[in-house]
Amino acid sequence: MKVQQSIIDYLNRILACELAAIDQYFVHSRMYDDWSYKKLFERSDHEVSDEQQHAHLIISRILYLGGVPDIHTRIPVKIGKTVPEMLQSDLDIETHVTELLKEAIEHCESHLDYGSSQILIKLLQDTEEDHTLWLEQQLNHIKTLGLEKYLMTCM
Ligand SMILES: [Fe+2]
Ligand SMILES: [Fe+2]
Repeated sequence: MKVQQSIIDYLNRILACELAAIDQYFVHSRMYDDWSYKKLFERSDHEVSDEQQHAHLIISRILYLGGVPDIHTRIPVKIGKTVPEMLQSDLDIETHVTELLKEAIEHCESHLDYGSSQILIKLLQDTEEDHTLWLEQQLNHIKTLGLEKYLMTCM
C-alpha cells in the first residue's frame, strides 16, 4: 500500500507538469495566433492536445491505482514576452518533465509496477523525441537564420 502511494505521488507530480504545460502552450498558442505566426500557432495548439492526452493517461492510471488525481497543483508557468522567450520557456517545462519521468520510471520499475512505467515511457518518448526536439530545432533555426528571417518562415 505504501509503495502504491509513492507511485501515485509520482504520477501526481507528473500531472502537475502536464497541466502546467497545457496552460502554457494554450496561452502561447493564442499569442502566436494574435501575432499571425500561423505555423507556431498550429504547432502549439497541437501540443495542447498532446499534453491533454498525457494528462488523460496519468489521471486514468491514478484512478486505476485507487488514488485521487490532484488537478489543482501546477508547476510554475512562465509566459514569454518574445518568441525566443516563449520557445525557451516551453523547452524548460519539457526538460523538467523529462527528468521527472525518468525518475518516476525507475521508481515504478524498481517496485515492479510495469503498467505505470509503460505509460510513462510513452510520455517520455513524446516529450523527448517530439516536443523537446521541435523546440530545440526552432531555437537552432533562430540562431542560424536570425530572428527576423525565422519569423518570416512562421507566418
Ligand atoms: Fe506531456
Ligand atoms: Fe510535452
